[in-house]
Amino acid sequence: MVDKKLGGAGLRGQSAGETKLCTVGKSGSGLTYCGYDISDLADNATFEEVAYLLFNGELPNQVQLDGYNQELTQLRDLPEALKSVLRLIPADTHPMDVMRTGCSFLGNLEPEGDFSNQNQAANRLLAAFPAIMCFWYRYSHEGIEIECTSDEPSLGGHFLKLLTGSTPSAQHQKVMDVSLILYAEHEFNASTFTARVCASTLSDMHSCITGAIGSLRGPLHGGANEAAMDMIKQFNSPADAKQKMAGMLARREKIMGFGHAIYRESDPRNVIIKKWSKKLATEYGDSTLYYVSVACEEFMWESKKLFCNADFFHASAYFYMDIPTKLFTPIFVCSRLTGWAAHVMEQRSNNRIIRPSADYVGAEPRAVKAISQR
Ligand code: COA
Repeated sequence: MVDKKLGGAGLRGQSAGETKLCTVGKSGSGLTYCGYDISDLADNATFEEVAYLLFNGELPNQVQLDGYNQELTQLRDLPEALKSVLRLIPADTHPMDVMRTGCSFLGNLEPEGDFSNQNQAANRLLAAFPAIMCFWYRYSHEGIEIECTSDEPSLGGHFLKLLTGSTPSAQHQKVMDVSLILYAEHEFNASTFTARVCASTLSDMHSCITGAIGSLRGPLHGGANEAAMDMIKQFNSPADAKQKMAGMLARREKIMGFGHAIYRESDPRNVIIKKWSKKLATEYGDSTLYYVSVACEEFMWESKKLFCNADFFHASAYFYMDIPTKLFTPIFVCSRLTGWAAHVMEQRSNNRIIRPSADYVGAEPRAVKAISQR
């Protein structure tokens, strides 16, 4: 039987396999990718270097990075058939559903085929996802049909340029880069585990990533940054935030952007994005949302010993960069795709189909009665 007290529900605390990609809550600041601490990567690497690291196990040298950047840049454009599908998706569709359809449809047009092409399939999705999101968003919301390529060297800058039509500031490019690094990988979280289960059946890359997008969509996982934004924009001051949050807790409501299944005292990604949120607030010229967020953080720690996870200060950071709230979780997709694909590759390299058992708690054995007697 699943013992909830021992943490069995939700498979909490149980190892479900091995990975060389990531540790969560074990060493360094609490999160490492391939042995590198997240704070070191956020300070000293680009998102493209992190993607290369996850796909190849080592950081690239300059020649390798130049080649990789060039490859990604050449893979950014979308096929006309995919644009036709994106044009058909209504404006009120959940953007995560757009990402799911975009990924799946690209798999129709460019099937992975042989697994020897898996890096290419992953790189193609990585390069194309910002355009899938922005092409649909700007066509459906603004009636504008954008070019899907740009002269921005980084993927983060490319996304911002497609979204706004103008060259992002150096600070915005840097924050997007850091944000993509922070969201890139997180061990056996729900969406990654979804991707690995799918990979274990020897399914294709697009199916694994499409399934992972579906898992990330829920508010208990990736959707928390949007839910946090919806909450904090209702608070008009730090005092107002504390008062309204007290009411939410009294009504036993979940506060999105707080708590974590593995971390117990803090999420190492929070301190990094919080620092950038503060800098963005200063540049924006109105720090209210930042200080409202700080008040929420203080209140939750004082009252429930709950801490901000990576999603909470991402809400204000993205707000200060004028990113529409409904695109917050799709940005997470653009980043976490690297972790998902790396796990798909790792699963394939030493595969056995994932098939756990269940404790049966249903009816005792019984016979089917004739329908007239039921
Ligand atoms: N707001 C209010 N209470 C919370 C909470 C939150 N954000 N997070 C946890 N709690 C409560 C739980 O309800 C539980 O209370 P109980 O013992 O009275 O039932 C207690 O704190 C311990 O919860 P815990 O076991 O640590 O959480 P979990 O592992 O079941 O769930 C999350 C982890 C992330 C799903 C959960 O913290 C949550 O729902 N957070 C909000 C959504 C979110 O931000 N998700 C993004 C994750 S990166």
